[in-house]
Amino acid sequence: MKSKNKFIVFEGIDGCGKSTLCSLLYDFIKSKNIPVQLLCEPTNGKYGQMIRKILQDKTSISVEEQIHLFIEDRKEDYKLNIRPCIENGITIVMDRYFYSNAAYQGCSKISPIEIIERNLNQGFPIPDRVYYIDIDPQAAMKRITARSGSGKTELFEKKTFLEGVRKNFLSMTDRHFLKIDGSLSVDEISNIIKDDYLKLN
Ligand code: ADP
Ligand code: TYD
Repeated sequence: MKSKNKFIVFEGIDGCGKSTLCSLLYDFIKSKNIPVQLLCEPTNGKYGQMIRKILQDKTSISVEEQIHLFIEDRKEDYKLNIRPCIENGITIVMDRYFYSNAAYQGCSKISPIEIIERNLNQGFPIPDRVYYIDIDPQAAMKRITARSGSGKTELFEKKTFLEGVRKNFLSMTDRHFLKIDGSLSVDEISNIIKDDYLKLN
């Protein structure tokens, strides 16, 4: 493996296991003494906090407003986190990026392709690798309700909506995408990802 720092993104519907897998890859990279930073979108910044409140309260806002908020959050993330990591040779392991924008907000009259274009027009860099964790929305919903304990869900956590989101993710043919079966065990998936990471150049 070359020593160049990597920009790695995890994508998938809610409950697919991204957060769990991000932490495992982060720990693996760190154990090799490679400088690495864990990031996620929505962030904890000004726009990220607004977004999280909207998601929790299930506030009804237009798709255009959703795209606007997620892109503003991403602009901040790029400036404060992503660009500094890239410039300072730090590998990024990131839970969601603009592909989520395309898959979720693309369940509308605006196509996923157009949303990707809008993100690329902002100058957001293309990752070296995207691990897309593919799972059936019914299984994902079971995990989400078990995780929350209270059975409380967020704005997009509905089986029918997630079916559309999954379809959008599956339509993405970016050569950096690696689709992984999210119904495998955490250990099995984590091993597939570690093997692949070691082969990235
Ligand atoms: P996400 O970040 O994609 O929403 P999480 O990593 O929070 O998903 O996982 C959702 C829930 O499912 C958590 O309770 C987690 O422990 C569990 N989980 C994650 N990956 C798997 C897996 N491969 N098999 C079974 N359960 C899993
Ligand atoms: P996240 O906290 O990653 O949810 P989870 O851990 O359940 O997967 O993301 C919050 C929600 O934000 C999730 O439903 C996906 C959505 N989202 C978008 O709709 N567009 C975006 O651009 C991003 C980054 C996230």
